[in-house]
Parts: sequence; structure tokens; C-alpha cells
Amino acid sequence: MRIIVTKDYEDMSKKAAAIIAAQVVSKPDCVLGLATGSTPIGTYKNLVKWYEEGTLDFSAVKTVNLDEYRGLPRDNDQSYYYFMHDHLFNHVNIDVANTNVPDGTNPDAEQEAERYEALIASYGGQDLQLLGIGHNGHIGFNEPSDSFDKITHCVDLQESTIEANKRFFATIDDVPKQAYTMGIGTIMKAKKILILANGEGKADIVAKAFFGPVTPQVPASILQFHPDVTVVVDEAAAAKLPR
Ligand code: GLP
Repeated sequence: MRIIVTKDYEDMSKKAAAIIAAQVVSKPDCVLGLATGSTPIGTYKNLVKWYEEGTLDFSAVKTVNLDEYRGLPRDNDQSYYYFMHDHLFNHVNIDVANTNVPDGTNPDAEQEAERYEALIASYGGQDLQLLGIGHNGHIGFNEPSDSFDKITHCVDLQESTIEANKRFFATIDDVPKQAYTMGIGTIMKAKKILILANGEGKADIVAKAFFGPVTPQVPASILQFHPDVTVVVDEAAAAKLPR
């Protein structure tokens, strides 16, 4: 595991974007696993900028997103489908047909999970998977539990996650209570993993996830067993790492 500590959010975003850019340059038809949340917004901004400057070409890139709220239609501005188009897809030359987010509107949860897992497999898996981390150590929407989920599935969100995400919705009742997420096994199959965290609020969980015991109670801790993980954290999020 490589840990890169950056000065601040901007520096984290630039370094993370540089790692993704290197992937796109070295394999133009790569499969990128993408993430949502406030953490990767700056990373996507840099990718858009480098596309506009002519450095990056997304025309052959395929993407699979980690997760999606269950029940939100694509045009809801809190859906992850909307987020990805708003922050990245609408601004680069990616073929929208090559972009994938679980379908939050499929009434058959089991069928949707199976469809999405099979789609990722048909792509040959992610060359690079980008991740953020929840305050409770969740990755995607894999919440703390007694076991690691292997494949894409529908989850009940924890109260703390609903609470953390309510800032994006008009009222707490509007926050979806379920989501689709790649499983821990789906994430671990990625050839490379890039995980980002910023801000002092993430300092405890970053130390726990990467230096604590590997346990499904801290889902991100499983990444300690992945052969190619890069952690990019700003100084505030790195504050509790052993020196
Ligand atoms: C959300 C997403 C995760 C994300 C995490 C952290 O619930 N499902 O993929 O990594 O929470 O979000 P943020 O980056 O806003 O702190």
C-alpha cells in the first residue's frame, strides 16, 4: 500500500487525477471504476481541465460506478447518475454508452444487482477503481457488518450514513434508505485501487482502516490485502496515521 500525504484538498485532487490520467494515457480503452461524494469532485475537475487542454482522451474509456441510491430516477439531482454526468461525463469526450451506474429505478433489486455484476465481469473488471471512504469505513455503500459482501447487492443504509447524506436532500425523509453497491469482492477484483480522503473528520477512520485490524466492521480495512492500493490523503485526514 502506498500512502501519499498531500498539503490540502486541491493537492490531493491533482495527485489523484494524475494517477487516473496515467491510467487513461497508458491504456486508452481502460475500465475505470468511479465514485461519487464530495471527495472526488476536485479530481474530476482536474480530469475535465486536462481533457479541455488536449492532454486526455476519454473516447475509448469505459466506466462503472460503485453505487446508486435505490428509487432515485436518473434526472433527480441527487442520483449518482446525475452526479457523474454533472461532474465528468458531460464535460469530456466519453461515449455515454460506455458509462454505467446501477439503475436505481429497477423494481427488481436482485435482477439489477445480478445485471450490474455481470456487466462489470463482461468488461473484464476495473483496471483502476477510485474510492472515497465513509466516516464508518464504508466503501461504495458497503456498510460495517459481520461479513464482507462479495458481489453487487442492494443494501439498507445505516442511520449514520443517512444522517451524513441528508445535507444533500431537502429533508431527512427524502434520503433514500437503500442503495445498490458493488460488493467488497467486486471492488477487490480491480487491478488497481485509488482511495481518497480529506479533512480532519476522516482522520480517525483513515488510521483505523489502513493501520487497524482487517474486519468487516471497517469495510475499507480489507484493502490492506489488495496488492495495488494507493491512498491519497490530505494532511488533515492523515493526522492520526502512525509516524
Ligand atoms: C457516500 C458514497 C461513498 C462515498 C462516501 C463518502 O455515501 N456512497 O462512495 O465515498 O459516502 O462521501 P464524501 O466523499 O462526501 O465524504
